[in-house]
Amino acid sequence: METKKPFNRREFLKTTGGALCLITTASPVPAVIADAAESGPPPVKRNPAQLKRLLDDMDAKGYQFWSVPRKDGEFLHLLVKATRAKNVLELGTSHGFSAIWMGLGLEETGGRLTTIEIDKERYDLARSHVSEAELSQRVTCIKGDAHVEVAKLEGPFDFVFMDADKEGQMDYFKKLFPKKLVPGGILSVHNAIRQANSMRDYLEMIRKHPDFDTVILSVTMDDGFCLSYRHRLS
Ligand SMILES: C[S@@+](CC[C@H](N)C(=O)[O-])C[C@H]1O[C@@H](n2cnc3c(N)ncnc32)[C@H](O)[C@@H]1O
Repeated sequence: METKKPFNRREFLKTTGGALCLITTASPVPAVIADAAESGPPPVKRNPAQLKRLLDDMDAKGYQFWSVPRKDGEFLHLLVKATRAKNVLELGTSHGFSAIWMGLGLEETGGRLTTIEIDKERYDLARSHVSEAELSQRVTCIKGDAHVEVAKLEGPFDFVFMDADKEGQMDYFKKLFPKKLVPGGILSVHNAIRQANSMRDYLEMIRKHPDFDTVILSVTMDDGFCLSYRHRLS
């Protein structure tokens, strides 16, 4: 008689993780659908090999610049498209890796990204990478302290990626909610697993907030995101 093997979660994750890896290896550069943009600057016809070289090079320096792992960049790219985001804000640009992934996603939605970096050298580098990716018309880099700059921005945003100082999440939230985050908007916080202690106040608050649905998830099976969806009806 056939015996059923017990479900092994670890093995399952290993296998599905492997499958995802195969898919992403097969298509390392996102395809841009030329006529899908709804407004904003038109999508750029770029050289896929050149873009791949840039992303590979930035990925290789990811550790030095504290940028998101490539899989998390791909996840942000997918999220921006799936949520049809139009007005995206990033806190903590570093050398622009996540900004480029989101910027490429915004080519399909016709949206724009504003990204803030406090460090002058990283800001300069990010601008040059964004230009190399031919995204300068879609991505605006601001040099400054995000705690100050967010207060100056009008918004409202429909997708916010919070990846600057981890202890600052609560202050950023207070500056964004309710006026600068639209109902139906997404707050996405990186390092919500490995650096949970540095943002404990934020994580506890957002999980209980009656206006948001919140999940913590990992694409890399290592660190991950705290994703919060603001209800359309409150
Ligand atoms: C984890 S890195 C961002 C990585 C980037 N999102 C990526 O994936 O490519 C955090 C960045 O936030 C910047 N940062 C820290 N505090 C900041 C602040 N108050 N305002 C703006 N940027 C800040 C740091 O200089 C650093 O470059």
